[in-house]
Amino acid sequence: MEAQAINPHFPTTLNSKNRNFMAKITCFPQSPTWVSCKSHNLSFVPEFGTSLKKDLSLRSSCVVKAKVGSDGGEELGEGVSRKNLAVFVSGGGSNFRSIHEAILDGRINGDIVVLVAKCGGANYARNKGIPVIVFPKTKSGSEGLSPHDLVSALRKFKVDNVLLAGFLKLIPAELIRAYPKSILNIHPSLLPSFGGKGYYGMKVHRAVIASGVRYSGPTIHFVDEHYDTGRILAQRVVPVLVTDTAEELAARVLQEEHQVYVEVAAALCEERIIWREDGVPLIRSKDDPDKFS
Ligand code: GAR
Repeated sequence: MEAQAINPHFPTTLNSKNRNFMAKITCFPQSPTWVSCKSHNLSFVPEFGTSLKKDLSLRSSCVVKAKVGSDGGEELGEGVSRKNLAVFVSGGGSNFRSIHEAILDGRINGDIVVLVAKCGGANYARNKGIPVIVFPKTKSGSEGLSPHDLVSALRKFKVDNVLLAGFLKLIPAELIRAYPKSILNIHPSLLPSFGGKGYYGMKVHRAVIASGVRYSGPTIHFVDEHYDTGRILAQRVVPVLVTDTAEELAARVLQEEHQVYVEVAAALCEERIIWREDGVPLIRSKDDPDKFS
């Protein structure tokens, strides 16, 4: 997805793959079978692809609603192609599995085309027929790709977006340059608190409890060349109970992670992420396209 800086009150299409929609028309899915398309100039309507042309109906002077087909990836209309996702894991891979389950259920308009793993999650992926590549290189150097080869491999798999799901290594600058505004990470605290180098997994939850804060929860953010400093896209709040152990808090946060990552991945694959003019990414609501979170 090629994102643009736009004002959410004057939305512009984010789709870069279909020239028919570029800059002239805003398209956003409202349900699995309908998309709304706003045009500043309805003379552009004939430029729609054929499947949209068939069912165009006016909703107001400047809003066109189009019913779209029911054949898999085309459900969201010609403006929203199905996305190819790479998921990166280091450990257990429960976020990876919940995203994969949501794809199988039809909740995410994308496919995991490759798992990048040290080891965790790999057996599940192989059993599901998802190719696995190892990154970074192992200490002996016998296995694992270099950053350069990783980027080439992701290109070969035609990856649109990268989802880090418990991947604990710093993402090489080469990969960030190759996938600008396209890599997301989930972190188990409310960033910018309890983030940065050394804050991962259970260490985060121990620090949260020791600090005495009463709320924690996952953050999903775009990835830059540092640990946990990229633009925040979504957060969920969970209470920190006075009797919590780090394990209990981790389990409560992880449950929320599974939900929020699926919601965010769905928004990403439906091209509902837009960039406010000050650089903050927002998610456009599926139910009400004028609402953002
Ligand atoms: C998750 O809690 C995730 O937020 C965290 O690792 C866990 C992976 O769980 N990530 C970090 O700490 C990144 N700094 P999973 O492998 O079961 O999805």
